[in-house]
Amino acid sequence: MKPLRVGIVGARFAARFHWNGYQKVYGTPVEVTGVTSASSESRKAFAHEHGMRAFDSFEALCDAADVIDICAPGSLHETLAVAALRRGKHVIVEKPFTGYYGPGTDDFRGNRFSKEIMRQEALASCDRILTAARESKRIICYAENWVYAPAIQKEREILTKSRGQALWIIGDESHSGSHSPYYGQWKFSGGGSLVGKGCHPLTAALSLKRSEGEARMGKPIRPVTVSARTHEITRNKNFQDEGFLRKDYDDVEDYSQVHVTFQDGTVADIFASELVLGGVHNWLEVFANNHRTRCNLNPVDALETYNPREELFKDVYVVEKIGTKQGWSRPAADEDWQHGYPQEFQDFMESVRDGREPLSNGELARDTIAVLYTAYVSAEKRGTEVEIPH
Ligand SMILES: NC(=O)c1ccc[n+]([C@@H]2O[C@H](COP(=O)([O-])OP(=O)(O)OC[C@H]3O[C@@H](n4cnc5c(N)ncnc54)[C@H](O)[C@@H]3O)[C@@H](O)[C@H]2O)c1
Repeated sequence: MKPLRVGIVGARFAARFHWNGYQKVYGTPVEVTGVTSASSESRKAFAHEHGMRAFDSFEALCDAADVIDICAPGSLHETLAVAALRRGKHVIVEKPFTGYYGPGTDDFRGNRFSKEIMRQEALASCDRILTAARESKRIICYAENWVYAPAIQKEREILTKSRGQALWIIGDESHSGSHSPYYGQWKFSGGGSLVGKGCHPLTAALSLKRSEGEARMGKPIRPVTVSARTHEITRNKNFQDEGFLRKDYDDVEDYSQVHVTFQDGTVADIFASELVLGGVHNWLEVFANNHRTRCNLNPVDALETYNPREELFKDVYVVEKIGTKQGWSRPAADEDWQHGYPQEFQDFMESVRDGREPLSNGELARDTIAVLYTAYVSAEKRGTEVEIPH
């Protein structure tokens, strides 16, 4: 079998862990043939480091690939995905699938712009990508790693095999602030904590309810309403800055909470913020009618270590966003694995090979965007319950 040729768009943070993911795919030959990005130095450095070609243009990358993997800022996802699909390529899109990034004017401020317009535009953007995928008969993969995290996958097995009903799901992704220079400006990121971090536990919850419905009733259970609040805590004039949290956000929130109701009357509560010290805090708990499961993605207690002096661990990676390595910590034994990255690329490559939908597919991506932007509509009304348009 000829290897599937993958071309990566973007040469920084996400591109690196995607490349690592492809190295672990088994049973399907995969070759990462090249990369393109905004700056020629970064793509050349990335290509040199990983033994692939650096392409000066997106079009040239497409010509050399069967699958285009989009690891560029969210504001570019739709344009790149549609262009690649129209060129007959299968497409992987990082989170957020797409969104609303403003009308292109200098005075656009996401936190003050009409959220109803944002929602309409974000959903129209989803539909343009899904239509392009349908028309080109190519596979669209939504790169939401939480769907594949081993802890979430085990709960999917428990929920479906026990024929349980998840009554209440609660989940959170938080840390002390994103590293990306694009993050913090709505025109690049399409939102703040809610879109950037809340998407992860939210998609996991939506995916579990889909699987539950398919197992018990032969069709997914989908979200119907949302109530949400967002806040800009580090830009609040009373915020006392001690220097541990990132605080230079431009026009996005740094705290969000979302309450989702589903077609069967059950609920999920999703939290996301940039206010949490002590390393990334990724977890989801399921309260079902017949069991209760706590999924810890990070930290996990596979190992616990005590370091008496900070500099002893200067070359040791401990865990994402840990502020200090001194004292007790819970180093990630295999952070990529516990976050679901290798499993994600395994499913994507098999779905392209076999011409089938991946578990994290376009429909799940669209439901996620519908909940996220309906949450902004609700937050604009200070938490009023709002229906999700389907
Ligand atoms: N799943 C996760 O856990 C996770 C984590 C981080 C980022 N992400 C997502 O991955 C995507 C990239 O984020 P990142 O953190 O790597 O950002 P980054 O800022 O580190 O890198 C962005 C890359 O996109 C490239 N780029 C910008 N404009 C481009 C253009 N016009 N054409 C080609 N390339 C262009 C840049 O040169 C850069 O290499 C975002 O959608 C982000 O939300 C996902």
